[in-house]
Amino acid sequence: MIRFIDLFAGTGGIRLGFQEACKKHSIGSECVYSSEIDKNACASYELNFGENPFSDITKVNELPDFDFMLAGFPCQSFSYAGKRKGFGDTRGTLFFDVERLLKKYKPKGFLLENVRGLTTHDKGRTFETIVNSLKSIGYNIEYRLLNSSNFGVPQNRVRIYIVGILNGNFTLNLNSDVGAVDSHKFKERNMQKSLFDFGEVVKHKIVKEILETETDIKYQCSEKFTNQLKNVIGNDLTKLNGVRLIDTRNGNSIHSWELGIKGECSTDEIEFLNLLIANRRKKIFGTHQDGKALTLEQIKTFYKKDNILDVSKSLIKKGYLSNYDNKHNPVCGNMSFEVFKFLDPESISITLTASDTNRLGIVQNGKARRLTPRECARLQGFPDSYQLLENDNAVYKQMGNAVSVPVIEAVISDLIENNKNIIDKLASPKKPYTLPSRSKNQPHKPKLVTEYVFANADEKESTTTQQCI
Ligand SMILES: C[S@@+](CC[C@H](N)C(=O)[O-])C[C@H]1O[C@@H](n2cnc3c(N)ncnc32)[C@H](O)[C@@H]1O
Repeated sequence: MIRFIDLFAGTGGIRLGFQEACKKHSIGSECVYSSEIDKNACASYELNFGENPFSDITKVNELPDFDFMLAGFPCQSFSYAGKRKGFGDTRGTLFFDVERLLKKYKPKGFLLENVRGLTTHDKGRTFETIVNSLKSIGYNIEYRLLNSSNFGVPQNRVRIYIVGILNGNFTLNLNSDVGAVDSHKFKERNMQKSLFDFGEVVKHKIVKEILETETDIKYQCSEKFTNQLKNVIGNDLTKLNGVRLIDTRNGNSIHSWELGIKGECSTDEIEFLNLLIANRRKKIFGTHQDGKALTLEQIKTFYKKDNILDVSKSLIKKGYLSNYDNKHNPVCGNMSFEVFKFLDPESISITLTASDTNRLGIVQNGKARRLTPRECARLQGFPDSYQLLENDNAVYKQMGNAVSVPVIEAVISDLIENNKNIIDKLASPKKPYTLPSRSKNQPHKPKLVTEYVFANADEKESTTTQQCI
């Protein structure tokens, strides 16, 4: 039996993957503590694990005995937080709490998950600090950069997974593999593989395999938006597959002025703005990389029509163009689009994020619609038995924040399969543990108390009647 704790628990993606790997290898596992501050994530967690993890980990000092820590902690720079003590000072960051609890409880192992940028953050110093700190506590560590798309999940999501074992050498067979840079490259590579690679080991799933067949009408794009899209691409909406809606220069994209989101634009107005976004980064207009604001004189070098003044005035009036100090820039922002990216059903999804998973689209049966919350859960490898809240927006946010379940399962399975002696130690028989006491402002309701191993009948009696610890 492995006793684990689940910090920054979110909706429990790491926990699901961990439990599944243990189950697959006939190892018992028991979550003895979980922590999460987002109320909706807690509700989701409670719905699925029977346990409300609501607690701020920065305020938690007492934990029950545990063997393994799971923690998908948010990434923060140490250089600012610890500026008075130098960049090695982790105080004021959430990693500090991971470090604090590892130091205090010295569990036999841990799995940490974070964004890919953790390795490059603050010129690599953040990651260096983390690695040094974990080693100084006594952990040997292995880390891998893995792309969810290589684990049967149709999403381009690269994350770092850090495994640590206390005072013990161990190996992982999985190799870091960040996968294809984008869904287009993925499609090319995947097609070539299926043509020539008959003994393919990795089964790549694509978006069309996770789509629901029947979806509520509320996910359909509005008639107005659909007509705006048809005005640009024609009646065949499948031309939207893989298209991004964005007001900056981008390969396969449609802009708000082409759709007429803020008011219809003439052909000349569209040409003006398309030329402006294509040319404004050029070195002749200045050395900095970002889109530069240009004067009409500068714009005249690529938009050569006589109506330039009228066109620019009209675009300013409609809100597509800004004019400060006689310098012009498109007014950008993708928030105005009902859908900001239509996924290609024959490829993988872009990375889900907390802020815009609710505006991912798909064309299915000739109709343009947004992805459903269930489809987003599938894009993170959550099984359909995982119950979703009725609050769609909360689920979109949760799935954007979540960890891909099958990747965790693969990492833990790798650890189990290649390090038998360590796992034997981890899963050794346990004495029953005592539940931690919690203050009133830390209302933690563990899973159905009867599922715990109790020290004695009295304890069982008191916890069952109190329900919450
Ligand atoms: C990347 S998500 C974790 C995802 C999750 N581990 C999973 O498996 O799906 C990070 C989570 O940390 C939570 N969080 C942030 N600060 C926290 C704190 N002080 N105490 C507990 N949880 C916190 C956030 O609300 C967020 O849900």
